[in-house]
Amino acid sequence: MSPASVATPGHLAVAVLSLLAHRLLLCSADVDFIYNGFHNAANLSLEDAASVLPGGALQLTNDSKNIMGHAFFDSPVQMVQDAAAVVSFSTAFVFEIVTVGSGGGHGLAFVVAASKLLPGATAEQYLGLLGKDNLGNLSNHVFAVEFDTVKANGLLNETNDNHVGVDLNSLVSNVSEPAAYFAGDGGERTNVTLESAQEIQAWVEYDGSSKILNVTIAPVSVTTRPRRPLISRPIDPLPIFKQEMYVGFSSATGKLASSHYILAWSFRTGGAAQPIDLSRLPSVPKKPEPPPSASTVIKIVALSCAATVTAIIASTGVALWLRRRAALADTLEEWELDHPHRFPYRELHMATKGFKNSELLGAGGFGQVYRGVLRRSGDVVAVKRISSNARQGMREFVAEVASLGRMRHRNLAELRGWCKRGQDLLLVYEFMPNGSLDALLFGDAPPPASPLRRRRRRRRWRG
Ligand SMILES: *[C@@H]1O[C@H](CO)[C@@H](O)[C@H](O)[C@H]1NC(C)=O
Ligand SMILES: *[C@@H]1O[C@H](CO)[C@@H](O)[C@H](O)[C@H]1NC(C)=O
Ligand SMILES: *[C@@H]1O[C@H](CO)[C@@H](O)[C@H](O)[C@H]1NC(C)=O
Ligand SMILES: *[C@@H]1O[C@H](CO)[C@@H](O)[C@H](O)[C@H]1NC(C)=O
Ligand SMILES: *[C@@H]1O[C@H](CO)[C@@H](O)[C@H](O)[C@H]1NC(C)=O
Ligand SMILES: *[C@@H]1O[C@H](CO)[C@@H](O)[C@H](O)[C@H]1NC(C)=O
Ligand SMILES: *[C@@H]1O[C@H](CO)[C@@H](O)[C@H](O)[C@H]1NC(C)=O
Repeated sequence: MSPASVATPGHLAVAVLSLLAHRLLLCSADVDFIYNGFHNAANLSLEDAASVLPGGALQLTNDSKNIMGHAFFDSPVQMVQDAAAVVSFSTAFVFEIVTVGSGGGHGLAFVVAASKLLPGATAEQYLGLLGKDNLGNLSNHVFAVEFDTVKANGLLNETNDNHVGVDLNSLVSNVSEPAAYFAGDGGERTNVTLESAQEIQAWVEYDGSSKILNVTIAPVSVTTRPRRPLISRPIDPLPIFKQEMYVGFSSATGKLASSHYILAWSFRTGGAAQPIDLSRLPSVPKKPEPPPSASTVIKIVALSCAATVTAIIASTGVALWLRRRAALADTLEEWELDHPHRFPYRELHMATKGFKNSELLGAGGFGQVYRGVLRRSGDVVAVKRISSNARQGMREFVAEVASLGRMRHRNLAELRGWCKRGQDLLLVYEFMPNGSLDALLFGDAPPPASPLRRRRRRRRWRG
């Protein structure tokens, strides 16, 4: 008899039904969920500092010191099959660690734990997972993949301050690697800075039959998933896992603090987790600029004060210089250009040191006479300033003076030139020492027939 003849239609039906029932039971035990952002935070239990921000990011901790945050899928997940083997499970998630200033901490972890409460958990290097007192205790039932941004002082045998580790009931990792990924097919190792405020995707995959755990990370900006995992180790978490476990995340800060975010998460038992839709990642609050230190503020204020004062001084100086230049500039009428021996007012101003009293040789009703030194020639001259309100006749007066300049006489102080400014007429003579100037200017020399001479006569000047 062939075995087939034994199998009656009734037997067959029972076999098929029992197989179906078994499949159904398995299917119902499998868990498969995805959060493309946490806008709908249904079925999550959040503890301590954890909260979902309005933008849809799950914030495990803000950057306050010494806090921890926990977020778990609120239903238990069957992790052990028939009390004999850990089921295959797979998770993918995107996290972001934002640090203000230099060096934050302490990190975050994907957790599979018997209790959502994580008894004995403390902050700092314990990542909100465990504490000093229960480290390594077999009754913890805590499995974690940590993303650690601080190297604990010798306590936890940590490789560096930027590593990925697998934790079995302890924070002394069973295996740990500096954070990196293997790019492309060539497998070149590229470091990843965990707390660099970039979106980083992580995959944690466990194959229940080969008992191999793979951990892979890559910045979201790297578009193709690395083929080679960062960690690929034979691990059997059976002693740690209970029949039902909770899956989620834990994070903590210490004296060093960062904001820890989960942006998306998918999880599945019995197969590969659904791929995350990277186009729907929520954004996290912008990293605020670190506030400037008091000394920087003082420096900025002092510098801007100094700059302002310098600018005021400089512009005042420039304004004064321009004013002085304008004040010393000649205002020429067209006819004046025709007459020779015209001195620029500026030159006479300089020659007499600005008509300084110390240069005054004498004064009378007619005007003042100053000693001057012409800058260009070095010649000593006498500059006579005649103030006149009689604007009328000025043109003729100057014409007369100009012709006077062409005359030479041994007794007549040579007239070198002239200058007109406003109502002032300035006559420039060769300087003759010892009072002879007086005589020469107003003395016995035969007067040229001019109104100037007559006026001079009327108003005698004493030297
Ligand atoms: C939450 O759980 C309910 C049933 O308990 C299910 O209908 C729903 O799809 C779950 N939501 C998510 C986001 O998994
Ligand atoms: C950060 O989180 C802690 C713990 O939840 C909370 O007490 C504190 O107010 C938060 N700080 C800010 C700035 O939100
Ligand atoms: C491990 O934890 C259990 C439960 O908290 C406790 O009773 C036990 O004493 C701990 N063992 C050690 C070695 O600390
Ligand atoms: C510390 O780490 C090294 C290498 O990562 C490992 O060989 C060693 O066993 C670890 N020590 C402890 C106590 O875990
Ligand atoms: C890692 O865990 C395996 C068991 O899963 C164990 O054999 C091995 O000794 C552990 N290694 C370390 C360094 O803890
Ligand atoms: C990558 O990180 C490791 C461990 O911190 C370090 O030794 C190595 O120099 C880094 N490589 C580069 C290219 O920065
Ligand atoms: C783990 O990675 C290895 C390659 O290193 C691969 O052969 C294996 O299929 C991976 N396992 C899982 C569960 O992804």
